[in-house]
Amino acid sequence: MELVDLPAPKPEADQVVIRTDAIGIGGVDAVIRRGTLGGGYPAGMVLGSEVAGTIVEVGADVDQNHIGQRVWAFTGTSGGYAELAVAGFGDVIVLPDGISSVDAVALGSAATVAHFALAHAHVGHGDRVLVRGAAGSIGIAAVELATQLGAAAVAVTTSSSDRGRRLQQFGATHVLDRAGDGDASAPTEFDVIVDIAGDPLSPTSSTISRPTAGW
Ligand SMILES: NC(=O)c1ccc[n+]([C@@H]2O[C@H](COP(=O)([O-])OP(=O)(O)OC[C@H]3O[C@@H](n4cnc5c(N)ncnc54)[C@H](OP(=O)(O)O)[C@@H]3O)[C@@H](O)[C@H]2O)c1
Repeated sequence: MELVDLPAPKPEADQVVIRTDAIGIGGVDAVIRRGTLGGGYPAGMVLGSEVAGTIVEVGADVDQNHIGQRVWAFTGTSGGYAELAVAGFGDVIVLPDGISSVDAVALGSAATVAHFALAHAHVGHGDRVLVRGAAGSIGIAAVELATQLGAAAVAVTTSSSDRGRRLQQFGATHVLDRAGDGDASAPTEFDVIVDIAGDPLSPTSSTISRPTAGW
């Protein structure tokens, strides 16, 4: 990557321009940089898929009153690593005052994915939940959310005891190693498994399973 000066972007009719305070960097950025998503990327592409900052310009179809609002935004597969980023207005969330831009990008897409997974699996009071690959951005959010939803057990897999201790601070009740061993008191059956790692136990990259629910 190299640092370059580019002309200020102009928004399409349904887009906004955001002056960024913070950018989110996640696993997907590494995948894009490896060139394995969508067949690679063109030279000169600006990477980055999520930002937080202030709207400084709006397209013709967006209400001018949004200028000056603090927002989190999904910028797609490019454009986030910049002082001025463009996003579709539909991909923007207005930030409440109490949330900093750094917190917004830390939660950003990762917490949204975790929320979607737990909501889709109808996680609720008394459920036994396993989060596999829990030490990463989606996993931590999934552990916190499952705990808040009243799960009876939130077991996690992680590759280090330090990460395990940290996950316990977020609400994990049982810490297992990547093979699923390490805590004999952990449940042996789960109502919901949020599988962030995928390989090698399942063929998909990110799986939510709820064997007992009919969704
Ligand atoms: N973050 C997002 O917004 C987002 C959105 C959509 C999709 N995704 C995708 O979802 C996946 C997870 O994203 P993330 O942001 O949570 O990634 P992450 O922060 O890198 O966390 C992934 C975790 O998985 C564990 N892990 C890695 N390799 C493993 C293996 N072979 N077996 C078991 N566990 C393993 C690691 O923890 P330990 O070493 O402690 O086991 C790591 O902390 C990625 O494929 C990403 O592209 C992410």
